[in-house]
Amino acid sequence: MNLPAICKPPGIRLAGPDELDALVSLEHVSFDGDRMSRGQYRRHVASSTAQVLVAVDTERSLLGSAVVFFRKGSGVARLYSLATDPAARGKGVASALLTAVEATARLRHCRCVRLEVRSDNAAAIALYERSGYRRTGRLAGYYEDGCDGWRHEKTLAP
Ligand SMILES: CC(C)(COP(=O)(O)OP(=O)(O)OC[C@H]1O[C@@H](n2cnc3c(N)ncnc32)[C@H](O)[C@@H]1OP(=O)(O)O)[C@@H](O)C(=O)NCCC(=O)NCCS
Repeated sequence: MNLPAICKPPGIRLAGPDELDALVSLEHVSFDGDRMSRGQYRRHVASSTAQVLVAVDTERSLLGSAVVFFRKGSGVARLYSLATDPAARGKGVASALLTAVEATARLRHCRCVRLEVRSDNAAAIALYERSGYRRTGRLAGYYEDGCDGWRHEKTLAP
């Protein structure tokens, strides 16, 4: 599927099967727990119901990634993971990925994007709220370490 040109740089495109090492490294520096494995990334990159988007710089280095799931017959896209390399944070990479996620969700006729975020993840919560995501629920003890989660959702303009 073609992605609209969102933001250059970073360039946003679908991840390829040759990028699993970089995706797993980013996962490790970004999350202390609840990490996705290499096998999961491999399946998602190849799946028709998932999209792994990457933000890359002009040298094609990985700046960030987003994983979004779609379900047949569902109008809800689920943003499962979003991460920016620590060296590239604060420069709009995650915002660009989020815009691309919403664009792909619209292309698949989704009416909203839903996500879960740790209640102690102030940076991510600020990003989502600034991007128009509204808190719709609390998920008690949702994470591996017992931390609560918040569910957030954004209705997509047609
Ligand atoms: C959360 C994360 C994805 C943000 O990535 P980023 O590329 O630095 O974000 P952006 O530069 O696009 O920032 C967009 C907005 O997010 C918010 N934000 C980002 N980092 C922030 C921080 N450290 N503190 C507070 N707000 C922050 C701000 O509102 C910012 O807008 P502003 O720059 O106009 O103030 C990044 O910190 C990260 O990868 N964290 C580890 C993984 C993670 O927690 N992922 C989210 C899982 S739900």
